[in-house]
Amino acid sequence: MKKYDFDRVIDRRNTSSYKWDNPMYADKKMLPMPVADMEFAVADEILEALDKITHHGVLGYSIVPDSLRLLAQKRISEEYQWETDLEWQVWLPGIVPGITLACDLFSNEDRGVLTAIPVYHPFHLIPTWLNRPLITFPMVEKAGRWTYDFEAFEKALQQKPAVFLFCNPHNPGGTVFNQAEIDQIVSLCQQYDCMIISDEIHADLRLYPQSNHICIGRDIVELPSISFFATSKAFNTAGLGGCVAIIPHQATREAFLKKTFGYMPMLSRHSIDVMSATYQHGSNWLSQLIPYLKQNHDILLDFVKQQPGLDMIPLEATYLAWISYDQTWGDLPNRLLEHGLHVLRGEQFKGKNFIRLNFACPKSQLEEACQIIASLTH
Ligand SMILES: Cc1ncc(COP(=O)(O)O)c(C=O)c1O
Repeated sequence: MKKYDFDRVIDRRNTSSYKWDNPMYADKKMLPMPVADMEFAVADEILEALDKITHHGVLGYSIVPDSLRLLAQKRISEEYQWETDLEWQVWLPGIVPGITLACDLFSNEDRGVLTAIPVYHPFHLIPTWLNRPLITFPMVEKAGRWTYDFEAFEKALQQKPAVFLFCNPHNPGGTVFNQAEIDQIVSLCQQYDCMIISDEIHADLRLYPQSNHICIGRDIVELPSISFFATSKAFNTAGLGGCVAIIPHQATREAFLKKTFGYMPMLSRHSIDVMSATYQHGSNWLSQLIPYLKQNHDILLDFVKQQPGLDMIPLEATYLAWISYDQTWGDLPNRLLEHGLHVLRGEQFKGKNFIRLNFACPKSQLEEACQIIASLTH
């Protein structure tokens, strides 16, 4: 089994990297930790799949082969214990466009879109783009983890949203929702006739491999619901896109599929062959990645806990730390930017006095980030 070296620093400048070639930095030296991709080279088998396409040389239109459909079905069954039918699958180039289409189709100007905050920003931007009411409720800390304020959730449902955007594991904050939470979400959404759209892109980034990822769609196959899965986040192929929507309810699936016509391009051969290689051969790489991320998580957590006025609830999944700061740090994101560290401002996720820091990088870069934070006087 190949041993991967996640300590290796790979120069990504001048690769059209959204992270490293941000025009905002101009010539300034910057350590970028904003958008959610990782600083690590992907698994060898993924590179081999890409090399094979390059050597073949033809880049025409592609179809999603049955072999890929079967691989996705197998992963959802084996990793998340959900037995799905092949015909429930709808393949798309990305989850965000998929959620946008679904919100356009299933919400309206009277019955809007519900989501927890803080949350991955497209969740609250999509209703705004579509001119649909945005209804939110807060996440709260309970027993050392982020979870829902279920009273606030029910109150929000009373405003009659048509769809609820569920992020599991949650970004930011890293919550892996447990069965009791899932049951409560399902029961309240049923009570208020609200369709669940579930984004499970971070499912394979659980920092405690013994924890279970529970698919909310498994318990509601008779009802309209959409659950999105992708390999792109956990296996660091975000730039290629590709995802599968599982839609058990036939009328919902047919309406969704029809809505994709003309809006969604076909998947590229690159993304199809890379997803196939990932499903078949990605487990060795992932099994080495997770302990590395957990180690970085623990380094960062220890560091944050030692800084007066900074705090962080340990993550259960993802590599996106959600760090709170008090007023002694001033405008922390801006001050960090001035000192050469780019993190995302909490407000982007509708969280005030937080930063989101992406720690999926070689340990040396994380240590450099900690040094920059520690160097700020406050
Ligand atoms: C929760 C969540 N969903 C979706 C995405 C992006 O998915 P896609 O690139 O397939 O649109 C991200 C990216 O960070 C994410 O965190």
